[in-house]
Amino acid sequence: MSKSSTQSIPDYSAVPRHLAIIMDGNGRWATRRMLPRTAGHIRGMQAVRRAVEACGKAGVQYLTLFAFSSENWRRPQEEVSLLMRLFVQTLEKEVGKLSRQGVRLRVIGDLSAFEPRLQELIRQAEESTQHNTALHLTIAANYGGRWDILQATRRLLAEHPELASAPEQLDEDMLTPYLSMAFAPEPDLFVRTGGEQRISNFLIWQLAYTELYFTDSYWPDFDADALTHAFEWYAGRERRFGRTSAQLAGR
Ligand code: IPE
Ligand code: IPE
Ligand code: MG
Repeated sequence: MSKSSTQSIPDYSAVPRHLAIIMDGNGRWATRRMLPRTAGHIRGMQAVRRAVEACGKAGVQYLTLFAFSSENWRRPQEEVSLLMRLFVQTLEKEVGKLSRQGVRLRVIGDLSAFEPRLQELIRQAEESTQHNTALHLTIAANYGGRWDILQATRRLLAEHPELASAPEQLDEDMLTPYLSMAFAPEPDLFVRTGGEQRISNFLIWQLAYTELYFTDSYWPDFDADALTHAFEWYAGRERRFGRTSAQLAGR
């Protein structure tokens, strides 16, 4: 397991090892073109393919995409159904190709809310790509950062009931193995398209020291050049993790 940014200073390089994206703006992209919002989601899928390819080429090792939040069930039922259908179709069509590219696919979130067929496709996709190592692609679906912290706490307490009467023994290192992203280092770079500057209940624990990049581009327009721009911005950040600039410069 990788080191926590609050427990020790993590290693990092000019290219983010872990990129986390809130793919926002599909609906507005479509509305601007007088198209139904669903058209935006379909175009958004093409942007996902581009991002996976560009990240693979750039040397990103972990790409985590927010596809459906635990709050997105509040949307009109037709839109939710379309998103679920798109998820099924994408898994059916794309997993073989992703696997040939060396992509290991994982889906995080409360999957119990999905219909059995979708749950089964997710299980198969995870299993058939489990030995791939070129890129760890994680899709957050029915995911919420608060849900994640709660499910981790529940599982930890179920396995260690003695902690309930000795809470002072509970520390970060005990909890993090139960979080959904335990297999990955914390994100180095967070990108949110679509102009909003908020986290919307994404990886709230893991983003503690992540560099946050916001762009007005709608997700369907976010191409390889836009990604390069985000990487350039990231490369220019001074990641201090609590230290001073002088310390970083060795002064
Ligand atoms: C993001 O785009 C995709 C999902 C949340 C599934 P939106 O659908 O939120 O697009 P906007 O924000 O309404 O434009
Ligand atoms: C966040 O986008 C979730 C995903 C991109 C899947 P939303 O568009 O749902 O976020 P809010 O509601 O505007 O904060
Ligand atoms: Mg949105």
